[in-house]
This record gives sequence, structure tokens and C-alpha cells, in this order.
Amino acid sequence: MFPFVGRYRWALPDDHFFDYVLIRTLHETKCFAKMKSGFEECEMTIEQRLSAWMAAAFARAGVTEAAHGSIGVRRSQNEAFGDYQCEAALKVARALGQPPRVLAAAVQAQGTPPGCEPLAVAGPGFLNLRLSTAGLEEALEAQAADERLGTPPAGAGRTVVLDYSSPNVAKPMHIGHIRSTVIGNALDRLFRFLGYRVIADNHVGDWGTQFGLLILGYRQFLEPAALQADPIAELERLYRLSYERSRAEPEWLAAARAELVKLQAGDADNLALWRQFVAWSRAEFQRVYERLDVHFDLERGESYYNDKLPGVLERLAAAGVLEASEGAQIVRLEAEQLGVCIVRKSDGGYNYATTDLATVLNRIDEFNPTEIVYVTDERQQLHFNQIFAVARRLGVATTLRHVWFGLMRLPEGTFSTREGNVIKLERLLDEAESRALALVQAGSPELPAETQAAIARAVGLGAVKYADLSQNPQSLVTFTWEKALALEGNSAPYLQYAHARIRAVQDKYRERFPHEDPARFPLCVREPAERRLALRLLQFPDALLAAAAQTRPNLIADALYDLAQTYSSFYQTLPFLKAPAGIRESRLRLCDLTARVLKQGLNLLGIAAPDRI
Ligand code: ARG
Repeated sequence: MFPFVGRYRWALPDDHFFDYVLIRTLHETKCFAKMKSGFEECEMTIEQRLSAWMAAAFARAGVTEAAHGSIGVRRSQNEAFGDYQCEAALKVARALGQPPRVLAAAVQAQGTPPGCEPLAVAGPGFLNLRLSTAGLEEALEAQAADERLGTPPAGAGRTVVLDYSSPNVAKPMHIGHIRSTVIGNALDRLFRFLGYRVIADNHVGDWGTQFGLLILGYRQFLEPAALQADPIAELERLYRLSYERSRAEPEWLAAARAELVKLQAGDADNLALWRQFVAWSRAEFQRVYERLDVHFDLERGESYYNDKLPGVLERLAAAGVLEASEGAQIVRLEAEQLGVCIVRKSDGGYNYATTDLATVLNRIDEFNPTEIVYVTDERQQLHFNQIFAVARRLGVATTLRHVWFGLMRLPEGTFSTREGNVIKLERLLDEAESRALALVQAGSPELPAETQAAIARAVGLGAVKYADLSQNPQSLVTFTWEKALALEGNSAPYLQYAHARIRAVQDKYRERFPHEDPARFPLCVREPAERRLALRLLQFPDALLAAAAQTRPNLIADALYDLAQTYSSFYQTLPFLKAPAGIRESRLRLCDLTARVLKQGLNLLGIAAPDRI
């Protein structure tokens, strides 16, 4: 029978805990995860495996996670301290009144983790782990043989609704919508790769109070030629004119309200106009999505929930949380320090909050998701905190998360801006492509013009996306062309070039040794530079899990940049084509694996990695 070794818990993106059981036989360690259907065997990353082993070793030394919280290992920052480090002995010993080194020695006495060299106790009581050569090579072979590059299906059996992009009809996308689109799409790709069922829903703002003013403005001020040339710009102009007039003339405002009421009551003329506005806007948004290679499963928009709004109030009333206040209907959230949430205005109209509540309830009914994730700029934090609090009062147990980001700063003159944050994304992408084209023409003048243009598209788009995705979403960043298009440094072009250069190395090998099949040779990881590269490759899946758990695509970018730099010193330090047969093929396979990881990682960020640049 399998002896039970231990169990380990680690956080998954939705803050639920999965339980894992390690079973060790004479020859292997297997991992079983607790699923709805019972325990099923699953893959683990190296970090998870070592963490599981460590928790079990502590348990045998008398210290359990149940009593002391999670016990695991972390990648060490300094290779002098091994590849991974565990500091649990330091943390726990104090609680036990034991010297940390004594506890660490007791853990050390439990044996050697699979694939590692014997544990070392260091400093005040750290446990240092170093993978053995055989352990590294074995793990790397498994990664190379795996299409998913060793990434566990952490999301299997889970559904996430991802609400992102969500621009407003009859208004241009602003920088916040663009960031939401780029960040949301990276999360979309990442969650799918991790095995989640993802429902990407573009919650377009197509049912706001702007339509009363817009309909009135359209009837009064329309310039047909301007509409023909650029419908969105014209709608925006009409809206602004109408809005200004409403501020000066109460009668105008009243007339706009009347148009809105007519629209909401289903007036045929107003509905026809509204449909037209929506169609023009959607066509414009669609152009942007095509260009960004972003695709949604649903584009429901706020109007979809219109007839579900009275039902929200009924449920709130049934739950006993609805209150009348100054003619409006509210939910008090003072206990959570979230003020009050208005769900029906004193004029009888519903609002943004009511729609979002209807949306939550509808998504739960229809998709039964494990979690719902919203991606917007920081200004909507209070709104979502209120929605989540009200939803919990209605008994919603689904994890609800708001992923917010700061607004990116656009230095004056970087690209055309209209009114502060409003930028023409298409013009920005045009400029990115033409700047990238200049780089490609300078770097690869021999390529046909068509190929150059295709590469410039990938590099230009990649540069813009990566400039956004490589930053912590919540920190304030300033976009500059110099940084976005830098050939050295943390940029998309740097990673795309690194990838293409590896492909070129592989081509050179094939020219020199056309009859050799490198797959016949084992991966061997003996030199320090090979070892470092191997570790970076094996740590890629952990970076993906961390990026998903923290909803921070920049953790993927960091891992790729680190990998590309490690590869570059590997390539510069060690002979390659001139290395002895066998070693040469092993190095070629390391190159190939590096290229695959770079390509996969860039793909998760929505960035292409062409084989030639
Ligand atoms: N349309 C909104 C805006 O532009 C964003 C919508 C975000 N999603 C949501 N379910 N509220 O501000």
C-alpha cells in the first residue's frame, strides 16, 4: 500500500484552499488533489512539490500546519543559499520555545526531498534546498515533454466570469478602457491556460442616462457630413453640446429626461435611434478588438439587464435590506464603512449599481461561476465594494473580485490626446507600427517588405501591450516610446528578439547537422550557466500560478525577462556548435525549451513571437 506522507494547502486564485495529499512509494512521490469528485492525481510544480514535502517533514518532526499555518519553501534570491529556502523553523520555533536550529535539524533528520541534495541548515535556522543534477534533469525532461510546459491545471473544474474592457456607447474609449482591455485579456488567456472555464463578458455601457441628452442633441444639432466621416466623434460632439445646454437651461434638461423616459418605455423612434447609436459604437469597438486580437464570449451590455432590475429590488426587499430614504431606495452599508448604496433613485429610475446587482445574480444563475472578476480603473473601487457587500447580503457566496489599476500617465506630446485621458488608440497603434517598422528595416534590411510589415505589426502592438502589462497594475506608470520600444531592457521587442535569435541558432544547427535528431540525446545540466537556465525554465509554471493568484500579469513579464537574461548569459558563456556531440544537442534542446517558454509566456500576454525579426 502507499504510505501517506503528508498534506499541503496552498492558495488558489479564488482564495479557496485545495487540499493536496502526497503519497510516497519506494520510487516516486505522487500528488492527489481534492476535487469535487474525490481525490485525483495531479501535477505539481517543483515549488509546490518541495513545499508539500517540507510540510510533511515538519509534521513528522511534530509541527503541523494545522497548528502553525502553512509551511512551504520559496525560491531563494541568492543561489549561495540553494535553489529554494524554507524559513518555517524560524517562525515556528519561537512559538514552541525551541531553538530554531534544533527544530531545523529535526526536520533535516527526516530525510532528503525527492530530486534534491541533502538538506542544509544555515544561519539562524534556515533550511536550504538544492536540486540534484539528476532531479533537475528529470524535471526538465518532463517539462520538455509537456505541451503545457509543466503547468498544473489549477483551474480545472472551475468557472470564472471575467468582466473587462466595457466601454460606453457614444463615447470614445478612454485610457482606462484600453488598460482594462489589455490587462483583462491577459488574465483571460492566463485563466484559460490554467484550465479554467472562462466566460469573458464585455459589459458595454449602453443604457445610461446619456441617451436622453444624446437623442435631443441628435435631433437638434446633427451635421450629417460629420456623422458620415466619424460617427463616434459626431455623437460625442452632440452629447457635449446637449449637455452644456442642459446646464444652462432647465427646460432642456427636462426635455432630455422626457426623451429618456420615452426610450425606457419603449418609444419606437427613440428605440430606433438608440439602436443606431449602439451599432455605430460597437462597430468602432470591434475594430479596436480585432486589431488587439481580443475576443469575448459575450457582449451583453447594460441594456440586457433592463427588465431584470425590478426583480433586484424585490430580492432586496425580501432579504429585508431595502430602505426608503428621501424618496430613494437604498441599502445601508455603514457597518462596512461603505456608506449607502442607492438602488433606485427618487425619480424612480434605476442606476449603475442596480444593473451590476442584476448582472451578478444573472451570471450566478446562468454560469454558476466559482468567481467573478471585474477589471476597471481605480475610480470604481467604492462602487464594486458596495456591489459586493450588497450581494453578500443577498446570500451570494461566489468569490467577487475587483482588479483595479491606476491610470497610465501620458506625457504631453507622446501621442494625440483629446481631453486628458481620451486617446485615439488606433492612432497610437499606427505610430507604434511605424516606429517598429523603422527598427525592423534597420535590423533586417534583407527581408521582403511584406514580411517586414508583418513583423512591425507584431512588434508595435507587442510594445504597447507590454509597456502596460510589465508594470504592477496598481502603480503609476508613464508611457514612453523609448522604453516601450527599447531593444535592451524589459520590453516586448527585447523578448521577441531573444526568441527569434534562439530560432536562428536552431536553424544554424540544422544547417550544420542536417541528419542529427537532438531529441535522441538527454538533457544534461552540469555547468552553472546551464543550471541557472534550467531553474528559470522550471520556475515558469510557478510564475503563472502567482500571476493568477494575484491577478498581476506583470509577474509573467518579470519571469520572461529574467529567463531571457539568463539565457543570454548561458549562450555567451558556453560553447554551442563547437561543444562535443551530445552536449551540443542537450544545449540545443535547452534553447528550444527556452524559446517555447518565451513564446508561451508572450502569448499569455497577448503578444506574438515571430520566428524571424
Ligand atoms: N462601462 C463602465 C465604465 O466605462 C465600466 C463597466 C465595468 N463593468 C461593470 N460590470 N460595471 O466606467
